[in-house]
Parts: sequence; structure tokens; C-alpha cells
Amino acid sequence: MASSAIHAAESFSNPNWINHSVAVESVQELALKKPNDIPQRYIRSEDERPSSTPLPSLLTVPVIDMEKLLLPSENHERKKEMGILSKACVEWGFFQVVNHGITHSLIDRMRGVANEFFSLSLEEKKKYAPHAGDVQGYGNVFVVDEDQKLDWGDLMALALKPKKLVNLALWPTTPSDYRNTLQNYTTGVERVAQMILSLFAENLQLKSDYFKENFGDPMMTVRMNLYPPCPRPDLVLGLSPHSDGGFITLLLQDEQIEGLQVHKNNKWIPIQPIPYALVVNIGDLIEVMTNGIYKSIEHRAVTNKERTRLSIAMFYYAGIDDEVAPTRKVINEEHPSLYRKFKHQEYIQYYMNKQLNGKKSLANFAKICE
Ligand code: OGA
Ligand code: NI
Repeated sequence: MASSAIHAAESFSNPNWINHSVAVESVQELALKKPNDIPQRYIRSEDERPSSTPLPSLLTVPVIDMEKLLLPSENHERKKEMGILSKACVEWGFFQVVNHGITHSLIDRMRGVANEFFSLSLEEKKKYAPHAGDVQGYGNVFVVDEDQKLDWGDLMALALKPKKLVNLALWPTTPSDYRNTLQNYTTGVERVAQMILSLFAENLQLKSDYFKENFGDPMMTVRMNLYPPCPRPDLVLGLSPHSDGGFITLLLQDEQIEGLQVHKNNKWIPIQPIPYALVVNIGDLIEVMTNGIYKSIEHRAVTNKERTRLSIAMFYYAGIDDEVAPTRKVINEEHPSLYRKFKHQEYIQYYMNKQLNGKKSLANFAKICE
């Protein structure tokens, strides 16, 4: 079933999204050379560097048990869990989900195919480099300036939905089950994403099918991040601080290696890996839709000296042709609209061509200034 869906998809690049990324060296190759000195372009200014002392991890991102949320709505356990979810969305913009129903064997294989692809020769991987002006493929999509500081990581980015955005030529064929595994994992993650959005709607006192009704044909993309070991993890970042541009992101962290950090109370709080959990975070579109009740929080990734870290982020968006604005339910005299209405398509184009830089994309693009 999944494979026929793939074969039916035509190759397609969206002519409306012009991307001006600059090609950069593979960090994997760079790390293999074990450089004593890190190239200047990776070295962050002092205020951006990961703190060299471990952060106190007294605060931890809330954990949500999806099984409890499947209980009947009057169940006490469910109500309690819905409260934890609501608090997580308002206070953190981040939470981890366990018991989400995606099988461990599918998760293991998803990590497996991603790792196997990254371990191919550079020459082989370059066959999947983005075509001119496109945002998909093996490479780096947020490097827009020759002088910009670089992230210590390589990535593979692919559009998953809708079909007209899927560029099958960029889906690896080695390992041979790469495409099928990605397709099956996408189906699993989409189911979880839809469920989470319907829970958000319930907590926001919207109809539980609010998202399905208003955003019929969601876009979905994946970004697989590989962060090789770095001789000086204190000086570099794996991924620059940013907020994600979609509705929500569902991220599979490395099984063991910490690296993702969220910005809270002016500190960077690490998110400890829980085996097989998905880290979910609110993206810019939900912040707009809820008029800031749920916030899209800045996060970043750091590296380490010893081990390569893999993460697989799936981004779930509104449809390409949808318009996004604060929903009427949350706007009143006391809470005027903080964001203008915009075409989703235009935000995608804007976001893709900005260097990742905290929450600047959303603020500059859609925030209404008092
Ligand atoms: C992302 C992201 C964090 C990580 O891909 O948007 O935030 O841990 N990744 O790789
Ligand atoms: Ni992110």
C-alpha cells in the first residue's frame, strides 16, 4: 500500500518556493579529519556558545501518556492528563509523548535507514543534493549568506505531503527499504499529529475536528539531522536557535545521546532522551492560531566529543493554500489579535530563506506592532 503511493507520486518542485541556499561542506567529512582547530565559520560568539558547565536539569519537559488520552472523556485519569497537556502547551511549548502507538520495530528501522544513508560515501549522498532553487535533499537549507556561522551537522530534508511536493528522485534507494520505511513512519507520525491537534482543539474549547475541518490537506516534511562528534563542542552549535515553522513538530531524538535544548526562563534546558518517545513542540502556526496562548519556543541542538547523534524531525503544517490567522474563538476586546492573517504559502517562502534565528521569522513576518 505504502509503496504504491510512492510510485504514483510524481516528481515535483514547487515553482513558488525559490530557495537561495549556499552549498556548504559536509560536517561528517570535516569531522573525519579530526581537525585540531575548528574552522572559524563554525565558532560561535561567546554569548551563543553552549555553556561549558552542565546545566542544572531540575526542570524537565512534561511527559504525556497518550494511552491515558484514549480513555473515555469523563475518565479522571484522562482529565488529569489533559490538564498536564494544556499546561505543557502554555508553559513550555514542548512535551514528550509516550505510548503513541508507533511500534518500536518501525522506529528502530526508521533510525536504521536514516543512519545507513548518512554512512554512504559523500559521492553517493551528493546524488541527492537539492536541485537549484529547491529546498529538498541532502545538504543545508538555511545557509543564505556566505559569512553566516555554520551549524555542526548535516541534514536530509524531504517533503512528504501533499503528493505534488514529493520529489521522489531525492528519496534514497539505498538502503533498499529506505522509501518504504519512511512512508510507513510518516503514516504513523501523521496519525499521532492529528490526534495531538484534536486534543489541542479540545483543550482550547474548539470542536475536536477543528483542524481537520479547517486545514484539509496538511503539508508534512521531514528533516533528518546528523551531528558528528566535535572536538570542541563548547564552541559550536549543532543547530542554531530557532522556532519551527509549522503547526507541530514530532521529533525522534537519538536513543541515548542528549543534544536538544529548549529555551526557558532565559536558560537552555536539555531534553533527556526517553526510549521511543516523541518530542513534540508547538510551531509558529499554532502560536498564531491560538494568538500566543500556545507558544512556539526557541530551541537548539548542541554536539558532543564522542558520539554521532541522529534526530528525525517531522513537521506537520497547515495546507499550502490555507490562510492562517488567530482563530475567532480566542480574540476579544481584552485579547486583540497579535498576528495578522497571512497565506501559509508566503510564510513558507519567507521562513525557508531566512537564516535560523530564534523567533525572528514569525515576529518580522506576522506580528502586529502595538
Ligand atoms: C529541528 C530541530 C533538534 C534536534 O530539526 O527543527 O529542532 O535535536 N532539531 O535535532
Ligand atoms: Ni526545530
